[in-house]
Amino acid sequence: MTVTLDRTPNPDRIALALVNGVRVDAGGDYLRVSDPGTDEAVGWVPWGGADQARAAVDAASAAFGPWRAATPDFRANLLRRLALAMHEHTETLAHTLTREQGKPLTEARSEIAYAASFLDWSAEEGRRVAGEYMTAAASHRRILVMRQPLGVVAAITPWNFPAAMITRKLAPALAVGNTAVLKPAEQSPLTALAIAELACVVGFPPGVINVVTGDPDAIGQSWLSDARVRKLSFTGSTEVGRLLVQRAATHLTRLSLELGGHAPVVVFDDADLEVAVASVMSAKFRNAGQTCVCPNRVYVHRSVHEAFVSRMQSAIARLVVGHGLDAGVNVGPLIDDDAIAKVTEHLDDARARGAVVRTGGHLVQPRPGLARRFCAPTLLEGLTSEMRAAREETFGPVLGVQAFDTEAEAIALANALPYGLAAYAFTRGLDRALRVAEALDFGIVGLNETTVSTAQSAFGGTKLSGWGREGGKWGVEEFLEIKSVTIG
Ligand code: SIN
Repeated sequence: MTVTLDRTPNPDRIALALVNGVRVDAGGDYLRVSDPGTDEAVGWVPWGGADQARAAVDAASAAFGPWRAATPDFRANLLRRLALAMHEHTETLAHTLTREQGKPLTEARSEIAYAASFLDWSAEEGRRVAGEYMTAAASHRRILVMRQPLGVVAAITPWNFPAAMITRKLAPALAVGNTAVLKPAEQSPLTALAIAELACVVGFPPGVINVVTGDPDAIGQSWLSDARVRKLSFTGSTEVGRLLVQRAATHLTRLSLELGGHAPVVVFDDADLEVAVASVMSAKFRNAGQTCVCPNRVYVHRSVHEAFVSRMQSAIARLVVGHGLDAGVNVGPLIDDDAIAKVTEHLDDARARGAVVRTGGHLVQPRPGLARRFCAPTLLEGLTSEMRAAREETFGPVLGVQAFDTEAEAIALANALPYGLAAYAFTRGLDRALRVAEALDFGIVGLNETTVSTAQSAFGGTKLSGWGREGGKWGVEEFLEIKSVTIG
């Protein structure tokens, strides 16, 4: 992304970082936050660096003792109050989210509810952290297993879900007694700051949640070279994930990495095509295809291939592209010019290699005054494994379809990439469904379903898609240390 810094922005629209319950400046440049659909400035945030990152850890460290000592009920009540406040402020939060990120307002509202669900879920999970009491090999010994918070944990969150990725990381961490430092994405820090402000309003003690904005490299480096930071949870690219792994070596900082994906969908000949089309539509085109778990490549049994493709074509052609605040819009802008360039390259490459564009395949200008960041939702028929769209995450509203003949071929195609985040299969056969779910080498599998990310389920990948899980009881475990106490 291109970062635009400004020394003297509009002072009314500066959102300061939040450290130790206080709004803080970084004393230098400000980062311009732009509406991706219009390029207008939505606000500015401090361009912080190592000093701000360290100050945030100082605050989180000081807050850790009392927060850890507080009762689970006390923490749970605050998390639930924050969830409630987010619901009450849905309109303001969703508006901010759409302005800085671009997704349609209806989707932004859903994201606020989705984000709040992690707070509610974790509030309850935090109450149920338990240990074990075991017999040992020697009859005079007992073993007590304790689960304890880690300390200060860091979160680096992406721009595609400016609210939900924050609560998915912070809620379980806080629920079990950790304190947190957070750096939201450069493109979408305003939603994060608004949520942190609400946390202060509902009564989170100073220092429990600290948000710094600015230079991702300097902030990430500072946290990974600070022994007080016991864990970093990151969502972003595999490339950055690798860099963090190297940097985490200094203090062997624990990592959770939710990295890129390239989700396949397998549609078998016995699938309910109506369900398959509706499910792929909602998962593929939400957030303009800028989702780690959205389907990118669909393998359809040859006998139902044309039926599937023609239904998809009609459904896609009905989508309305436009600015996220405009009425009736289903697909907003892409986040920046690099995103548009990537989608365009993938489309050119697919065409050059023989793909047939059934609908879309070009940029659009939904109305005057909008930036050139809108791409028509696209269906490519005749996808092949050589095409970039079949190998690299397009992160845009482009879906490729390829025919297959046998189950083994479909599984091999689905598993062929080094990514393993999410995969989907559509079939009415129970035996096949279970066989395929076992064979897919992915952390998340949807069977006749594409809504796979919820507060209750485990979200995370295998292979180059990362380490660790978020959500459910598994997301909570990521923020706990196990201590074994042997009693004589
Ligand atoms: C992501 O794209 O990383 C998250 C998607 C989701 O939570 O559904």
